[in-house]
Amino acid sequence: MGDSFNTRLIGYLSAGESRSGESIAAELGCSRTAVWKHIGELRDLGVEVLAVAGQGYRLAEPLELLNRRRIRQGISREAREALSELRLLESVDSTNAEIQRSEAFDRHGLAVLAERQTVGRGRRGRRWFSPYARNVYLSLGWRFETGVAELACLPLVVAIASCRALSDTGVRDCLVKWPNDLMLGDLMLGWRKLGGCLVEVEGDAGGPCVAVMGVGINVRMPSPEVTDRAIDQPWTDIASTCPQVSRNDLAARMIDSLARSVAMFTNSGFDAFRDEWAARDGLTGREVSVLSNDREHEGKACGISERGGLLLRTRQGTREFLSGEVSVRLPG
Ligand code: BTN
Repeated sequence: MGDSFNTRLIGYLSAGESRSGESIAAELGCSRTAVWKHIGELRDLGVEVLAVAGQGYRLAEPLELLNRRRIRQGISREAREALSELRLLESVDSTNAEIQRSEAFDRHGLAVLAERQTVGRGRRGRRWFSPYARNVYLSLGWRFETGVAELACLPLVVAIASCRALSDTGVRDCLVKWPNDLMLGDLMLGWRKLGGCLVEVEGDAGGPCVAVMGVGINVRMPSPEVTDRAIDQPWTDIASTCPQVSRNDLAARMIDSLARSVAMFTNSGFDAFRDEWAARDGLTGREVSVLSNDREHEGKACGISERGGLLLRTRQGTREFLSGEVSVRLPG
């Protein structure tokens, strides 16, 4: 992400004091009309810019933009060496799509972060709400020499890697709802979604193949009035419990954790993650229903299979689901 006009404008406005149109024009080397036009663009992006009569403009709340230097500093040398490129974008349709547009050969080690996504992709064809400069939208491309079937557990690895990064950021109690929803809160009082992962794999059954691992984490959502209109399930963000959270810090930890975890998965397989999965698994022992192939199946979740499928104890015996949408059935 080069220093676009909007980035520089936010940087100048971030200080908290009001800035007159004249001083903004002088600072950024443009006309007052251009300042006015760009303030309008920031507002269109959802940034709340207050105009104070006789004083000028200021941001309603501070915004932390993605910062290449800070992110690079937060990534360990081992993970940095595994990256081929760290690409920061101001706006993109989807960070996963951005990687998929690259030549297959160039995708390995390409990490993409964006300030916003216009068509963020969620699982099962849903949209991922991706407002400007508030959350983390990250994708990492990775080439595997093995075939697609060997990567069945990769979505679970990405969820565990995300929990590790969250834990290092101060969010220690994140649970995973199979296969890779990142959840916070008490199941009985109400679980809320903090983030999600979307792993898309292209390649041959016998290999090699290229995976794009996408993770979205809610860091500092807009007001509930705005967010509730965009998301149709209970949601939460990190700032609700850790107000000082830094997006750059989390982005760096996420890249670090993903790169290390995927290297470990390549070398040792999913066995290296099984214990941690069991500790983070929010479903085991719960009565759940699984929507799979347009059919609803009820039973008690009882862990995962060798290949990462959800095991469900039903009246007809134990069944394995390799895909599906799980909802927890509350007692009573
Ligand atoms: C889910 O539905 O839970 C998965 C959400 C995945 C969202 C992330 S944001 C970064 C990456 N780019 C996308 O378009 N989607 C993923």
